[in-house]
Amino acid sequence: AAGPVNITIDAARPGPVINKNVYGQFAEHLGTGIYEGMWVGPQSKIPNTKGWRNDVLGALKKLHVPLVRWPGGCFADEYHWKDGIGPRNKRPVKVNTNWGGVEESNAVGTHEFFDLVDLLGAEAYVNGNLGSGTVQEMSEWIEYMTSDSKSTLANLRRKNGRDKPFKVHYFAIGNEAWGCGGNMTPEYYADLYKNYEALLKAPAEHRPKLIASGGNDHDTKWSDVLSSKLKGRTDAVSFHYYTIPTGKWEGKGAATGFAEPMWMSTLANTLKIDGMIRNNVAVLDKNDPEKKIGMFVDEWGTWYDVEPGTNAGFLFQQNTLRDAVVAALNFNIFHAHAERVRMTNVAQMVNVLQAMILTEKDKMLLTPTYHAFEMYVPFQDATSLPLAIADNASYTVGETSIPGISASAARAKDGKVWLALVNTNPNQPADVAVNVAGTSVTGATGRVLTAAAMDAHNTFKAPQAVKPAPYSVRAEGGKLTMKVPAKAVVVVALEG
Ligand code: AHR
Repeated sequence: AAGPVNITIDAARPGPVINKNVYGQFAEHLGTGIYEGMWVGPQSKIPNTKGWRNDVLGALKKLHVPLVRWPGGCFADEYHWKDGIGPRNKRPVKVNTNWGGVEESNAVGTHEFFDLVDLLGAEAYVNGNLGSGTVQEMSEWIEYMTSDSKSTLANLRRKNGRDKPFKVHYFAIGNEAWGCGGNMTPEYYADLYKNYEALLKAPAEHRPKLIASGGNDHDTKWSDVLSSKLKGRTDAVSFHYYTIPTGKWEGKGAATGFAEPMWMSTLANTLKIDGMIRNNVAVLDKNDPEKKIGMFVDEWGTWYDVEPGTNAGFLFQQNTLRDAVVAALNFNIFHAHAERVRMTNVAQMVNVLQAMILTEKDKMLLTPTYHAFEMYVPFQDATSLPLAIADNASYTVGETSIPGISASAARAKDGKVWLALVNTNPNQPADVAVNVAGTSVTGATGRVLTAAAMDAHNTFKAPQAVKPAPYSVRAEGGKLTMKVPAKAVVVVALEG
C-alpha cells in the first residue's frame, strides 16, 4: 500500500489573515430564497422575529454568517429601492422577470434587510442597480441609508422606523454588467461606474466600501480593465464562478443520483477556480501592486439541473455530500489566496443553488454544505499558515486526475492551529501524516463529515442523514497520522 500523504505546517511563518467575509452569504430575491425560505412576515404562524423565521435565523447564527449580499444578482439591476420602503401593504407589486416571472411583493426591502443582518450580527453588502436605474436613484438610496442629516430622505428613513443611519459595509455598482446587468463591455462599464461613483456621497464615517462588478470564469479582461481604470475609485473587483458538473449550461447534471464520473467532473471543475483566481490576481498585481483592490468572489457554488417538477426559474436543487466536499475545496483555495480574496459569497443562503438550508412550509433542514460551513467557522479571521503537501496520491477517473488530499491550516483567534483536510477520492481512505515544523503535535480533535453514498443528503423525512461526527486521534511515537475516510471533510484543532 502507498505510504501516507505528508503535510508540514510552518506555524513560524504566518501568512495573511483569512478575512471572515470569505464565509459570506448571498441572498437574492429568487425563488424561495427570501420569501418562504427566510421571510414569512410578522403575522405568520411560523415563529419569526420581525418577519424572519426563527428556525432559520438560529441555524444561520451558528454559522457566524459574517456578511450578507442582497438583493441580487441579476435581480439587483431591476430593483428600485423606493418600491421597498414604507407600509408593506402599500408597496407596489412587480414582476421578477429574471426568476420565474413571479410576483415580487416588495415586502422585503431596505429596512427588512437591515433587520436580517442585525439579527444575524452580520455585515451588510447592498448591490445597487446600474442596469436599469439612474445615478440619481442610486445616490438617493445611499443618502437614504447613510445620512445623519435632517434631509427629506433621511427623515423619510426615520419616518419608516430607523433613526440612525444604517451601516452599509459594502455597496456594489451593478452586477454581471457583461450579462444580465446590461451586456456591456468592461470599458463602457468602467466609464459608467465612474459616473455613478462620483455622485455616490456618504458621510465619511458611513461610507461603504465600493465594489466594481467584474468578470467570470476564465476571463481576466474585466479585472484588468477595472483595476486599471478604477484605481482609487473602487475597493474591490468582483468575480463569479459556478461549478457545473457537465460544464454546460444546457444539461448541467443532476444534484443527486449521479455516478462517479459526475462526482469527478464536479470536483475537477470546482478546482479550476484556483487557476482563475491566480490569473485574476496576477492582473491585479500588475495594475495594483499596492494591493488596495480586493478580489471578491461574490458568487460561487454548484449549479445543477433544478429538482424535477420545480419552477425552472427558482434554481432549487438538493445538496449532497458532494456539495460539502465542493465547499471545503473552495475554502481551502480561498485561504491560499487570502491576501486578495477578502470576501466571497456562496450562492445562495436558503433554497437556491448551493444552499445552507432547505425549507418546506414550517420545516427546515440543514444541508451538507451547511455542515461544511459550520466546521470551518474557526477559519474566520484566522491567520493562514503555509503548508506543504508531499506524496499526495492522485484520484483518477478516466482521463481526469485531481489531488487526492486538499488541505489548509491556520492559527485561529483561539490560538490553536486548525487543519482542514478533504479526501476527494470516494473509494479510498487516506493516511495523512501531519507535522508542525519546530513543534511536536500530540493529537488532533475535531469533526469529520462523510457518508456511505456520494450523493448522501438530508430530506425532511431524514434530516440528520448527513451530519458531522466527532473525530480525534493521538500521536504515536511522536508522529500524528490522521486517517481520512473516503469522500470526507475533516476539520481538527491540533494539540501539543
Ligand atoms: O445566483 C444566481 C444568478 O447567477 C445571479 O443572479 C447572477 O448574478 C448569476 O448569473
